[in-house]
Amino acid sequence: MALREQTALVTGAGRGIGKAIATLLASEGVHVGMLARTSSGIDPLAKQLAEEFGVRTVAIATDISAREEVEQAVAAVQEHLGSLDILVNNAGIGTFGSLVDMPVEEWERIVRVNLFGTYYVTRSVLPSMIKAGHGSIVNISSTSGERGAATTSAYSASKFGIMGMTESLMQEVRKHNIRVTALTPSTVNTELAAKAGLKTSDEDWMMQPDDVAELVLACLKLPDRVFVKTAGLWMTNPR
Ligand SMILES: NC(=O)c1ccc[n+]([C@@H]2O[C@H](COP(=O)([O-])OP(=O)(O)OC[C@H]3O[C@@H](n4cnc5c(N)ncnc54)[C@H](OP(=O)(O)O)[C@@H]3O)[C@@H](O)[C@H]2O)c1
Repeated sequence: MALREQTALVTGAGRGIGKAIATLLASEGVHVGMLARTSSGIDPLAKQLAEEFGVRTVAIATDISAREEVEQAVAAVQEHLGSLDILVNNAGIGTFGSLVDMPVEEWERIVRVNLFGTYYVTRSVLPSMIKAGHGSIVNISSTSGERGAATTSAYSASKFGIMGMTESLMQEVRKHNIRVTALTPSTVNTELAAKAGLKTSDEDWMMQPDDVAELVLACLKLPDRVFVKTAGLWMTNPR
C-alpha cells in the first residue's frame, strides 16, 4: 500500500528510534508531525525532511505526560497537516533500579510518560481517525512489555500497560477500519540504551533505530485486512 501523501504523527522524533521512523516515513512521501520533549532534535529534523523529501512537516516541543499540552499540540499538528492517517507512539523514557530503591517520583515519571503519555496522544488523535473511517496506530512497546526483570519494574509496568491498552483499543476501533499494533523491540542502539548501560561492546550485533523503523513501515504497508497484534525484534541474531 502506498503511503505517499498520507499524514503521520511521530512522538519522540528528536533522536533514536523516533527520528528513524519520521525519516523513513518522510522518505515514503508521508507528511510528518513530530513531538518531543525539547525542540533541539525535532526542529532541525523537520526542516531537513521538508527540504530533502518535499513533504510538509511540523515540530512541536511537548511533554506527552501533560494532557493539556498534548491536546494543544495534536490540534496544532492537525491544523498544519490535516487529519492524521498514522500515529506512532514512540516517545518514552527508561531508567532502571530496584522497586524499593527507585525514588517514588522517578517510578511515577516513567509510568506517566510511557503509559499516560501514550494514552493522552492516542485519545487526542482518535476522534479524527474515527471520523475519517481509517487509520493506523503503532505503539512502540518493548520486550519489557512481555517480561519483567530485576530493575525494570517501572519500565515494565508502563510497557505491559501499553500492551493491554493496545489489545483493548484494537478491538474497540477495528470497526472504524483503524489498525492498532504494538511492537516489542529488544535492545536498540540509542541514547536510552546507552544511558541504561544496555549497549554491548559488539555493536554489530545490536539492532539499529532504522531496523525498528523498517518494521513500523512494514506494518503500515500491510493490506487493511491484515491485523498485527504484536511484532517483535530481537537484538542478538544467531550467527
Ligand atoms: N532503545 C532501546 O533499547 C529500546 C528497546 C525497546 C523499546 N524502546 C522504546 O522505544 C522508544 C524510543 O526509545 P529510544 O531508545 O529511541 O529513546 P531516546 O533515544 O532516548 O529518544 C527518546 C525520544 O523521546 C522523547 N521524549 C522523552 N520523554 C518525553 C516526553 N515526556 N514528552 C515527549 N517526548 C519525550 C525524547 O525527546 P527529546 O528529543 O526532547 O529528548 C526523544 O526524542 C521508547 O518508547 C522506548 O521505551 C527502546
